[in-house]
Amino acid sequence: MTIIPNSFQVQAKATKWLTWKHPQQLPTLLKPYPWQTIKILGEGTNILLLKSLYHEPIIQSHYKALHYKITKDEVHLFVGAGYHWDDLVQFCARQHWWGIENLSAIPGSVGAAPIQNIGAYGSEIKEVLTKVLVYNLKKQTFQWLKNQDCQFQYRDSLFKQLNPNPFLIVAVCLQLSTRYRPNLSYKDLKHYAEQYLTPPYTPYQIAQAVRTIRAKKLPDPTQLGNAGSFFKNPLLTQQQFTQLKQRFPSIPYFKEQTKYKIPAAWLIEKAGLKGIRKNGVGTYPKQPLVIVNYHAHNGKAIYNFAMEIRKKVYEAFGVWLELEVRVWE
Ligand code: EPU
Repeated sequence: MTIIPNSFQVQAKATKWLTWKHPQQLPTLLKPYPWQTIKILGEGTNILLLKSLYHEPIIQSHYKALHYKITKDEVHLFVGAGYHWDDLVQFCARQHWWGIENLSAIPGSVGAAPIQNIGAYGSEIKEVLTKVLVYNLKKQTFQWLKNQDCQFQYRDSLFKQLNPNPFLIVAVCLQLSTRYRPNLSYKDLKHYAEQYLTPPYTPYQIAQAVRTIRAKKLPDPTQLGNAGSFFKNPLLTQQQFTQLKQRFPSIPYFKEQTKYKIPAAWLIEKAGLKGIRKNGVGTYPKQPLVIVNYHAHNGKAIYNFAMEIRKKVYEAFGVWLELEVRVWE
């Protein structure tokens, strides 16, 4: 039995734990199992495990290939699913390649990054991802999915939508740039750069700036169990937003095409739930969108707490929060 790594630090084990270092191993490794039962794990940093024992096969990638080619001012990378995401960010930033520096310090693996289209500080992986090499569990073949095929949206993709999902991510291809192109669209990052840095910035400086900003707000999962934002920021229709703004004129928002994205952290705070604790679980006092595990041993306690938060936010604002974290039942 293997302990399932998870950043919520709940106790859970797997009876069938599979790992792979090279794509060639996949067909033989996975052949014995019905494809619908296979669970794919990255580093367990965006997952809530509800059971203490899993009998389904769980597969984790240890494939750490990293290849790149530079043509003019473009850098084309091929990175194995088992590469640690933040190591990739640091590597690219040190090379002076632009494109993923704002995604610095996000926990997890490269293979998990496209699943929820990781995003932070004004960037999302979909902006630099060109294609994904997948192993189709159902057809038992390798195939390429182009960026468009992945149906990326805010914290969402084809891989998250399909249930069961037949695509195991083997490697991702990214296109970065050697041309100066800092993205300071996010207010906190812009302020930080203006205060502490002098242009022209380097990707490494931006990556470090993001790391510092994150560390001020977000708990380190190795110190305090958490999986980052537990819920997504809700996208409201014009009508929903207008009604809410009449009641709460100070509500912060970001216009996204025809929708209005409002910070779930604000809703949680205004509902009086910032920093609360119950049964060893709480909302993080500096960023209440993060649910933290003080001393709960099982995922159900965390799940129940989160459902209470969701219910109370709904009662206060009529807004139903969607989970960002993935729950393994
Ligand atoms: N806010 C409050 N109270 C708080 C904290 C925040 O009202 O205690 C409000 C403020 O209005 C603030 C706004 O929430 O301006 C946004 O807060 P923040 O910049 O911390 O970002 P967020 O929207 O809560 C999102 C991502 C994070 C990402 C940051 C930075 C989602 C679900 N979360 O959080 O991603 O790091 O932006 O880009 O979109 C993650 O996905 O796990 C994650 C941490």
